[in-house]
Amino acid sequence: MSMKEYFPIFENNPGLVYMDSTATSQKPRQVIDGVSEYLSHDYSNIHRWAYSLAERSEKMYVDSKKKVAEYIGAENWKEIIYSFNSTYASNLLVTSLRRSGYFQKGDKVLVSIVEHHANVVPWLILAEEVGVEVEYIRVHEDFSLDFEDLASKLDDRVKAVSLTHVSNVTGEIFDLERVNHLLSERYPPLTPPYQGGEENIPPLTRGRQGGGRPLFIVDASQSVPHMAVDVQKIGCDFLFFTWHKVMADSGIGVLWGKEALLSEMKPAFSWGGAISWVKKTCFKEAPLPDRFEPGTPNLSGAMSLLKAYEFIESIGGYPQIEAIEKELSEYFLQKFWEVSGVRLIGSTKSDSRVSVFSFIVDGVHSLDVADYLADHDICIRAGQHCAEPFMGELWVHHTCRASLYIYNTREDIDRFFEVLEQAILELK
Ligand SMILES: Cc1ncc(COP(=O)(O)O)c(C=O)c1O
Repeated sequence: MSMKEYFPIFENNPGLVYMDSTATSQKPRQVIDGVSEYLSHDYSNIHRWAYSLAERSEKMYVDSKKKVAEYIGAENWKEIIYSFNSTYASNLLVTSLRRSGYFQKGDKVLVSIVEHHANVVPWLILAEEVGVEVEYIRVHEDFSLDFEDLASKLDDRVKAVSLTHVSNVTGEIFDLERVNHLLSERYPPLTPPYQGGEENIPPLTRGRQGGGRPLFIVDASQSVPHMAVDVQKIGCDFLFFTWHKVMADSGIGVLWGKEALLSEMKPAFSWGGAISWVKKTCFKEAPLPDRFEPGTPNLSGAMSLLKAYEFIESIGGYPQIEAIEKELSEYFLQKFWEVSGVRLIGSTKSDSRVSVFSFIVDGVHSLDVADYLADHDICIRAGQHCAEPFMGELWVHHTCRASLYIYNTREDIDRFFEVLEQAILELK
């Protein structure tokens, strides 16, 4: 069975060439049927149940979190918090940190220049509300992270370093283990004596103890779809991603954080299931992870992500995804160099990137190229890709972006380049 055959969208849209998986991925039959089965047989609300239907539903919900924890190397499934998507997860994190009093006026937050707005705007809101400064780390000409620039910006005012793992524009994979190494060197563990003893310093206040290490936050929205991601290897404190890009349904995202940090934090929102008890004048927040999940969660979304993991396992796991994409990337780049009048905004190497290709056609607006391809049933995206600070830096106001996933084939790539060449001839 070819990979494409697992995805009903292609059977229902013959001839479709889908190259917009960075925006969202298509869903395999296993996910579609799994959600339908759950809704038909086991659906009910979770928490405070006394009947077996709800027990089954709760088990599925917890099992899905255990699966996420296993895959990303979390120590405990209670460290897995569900949100609606990455954007909600990052807002939940930043707002919860603010409510916990972690940031003060004059603190600094470092992000890279290529960040998606989801990892920029919550920090800009924090800047507005608290007076923190947001600084941008540059990238080199080959789009890798500029470590010298990062090192030069790491001073005692830095309270958080928040970086994407993979750029949704360039496809470049950032070396986050090296970032962790740099942070550990620059901010060695605090040494005693502390007032009251080290054990009395709550983890969240580490950054305020003069030289304490800033929080290291990772946006893994574009890495989890393509590669194995392990929070212990990366050495981060928080990580978030969104499931509609990993073959599950839309409306479910993950925020992972170290248990010691999450249990110290005041959640951004508190009601419904996030509460242990409420009296007329006060309330107590629920323990982890429920305290960060107010109201009824996206239950079928949780089932869809469980099924997406089962699908990934059934095709050979992440090693297989990586192998398929590497081959596709090499083929795409090989064909790309044969076209004249196009410029790649991304690494020319296939080993430091995922299969996301942004490019510009000289003298033609990217939207016109995307429209032309759309008329031939080829789906790509054109615009600023929710990364306007980066686009501004490049003096590029729009690019075309073709993004591949495991269901793409060499035939898709051939068709794409055939029509792209026609577009260049006709539109120039
Ligand atoms: C790097 C990155 N971060 C965050 C997001 C936001 O994801 P969502 O729209 O699911 O919140 C995206 C979406 O394209 C992304 O590419």
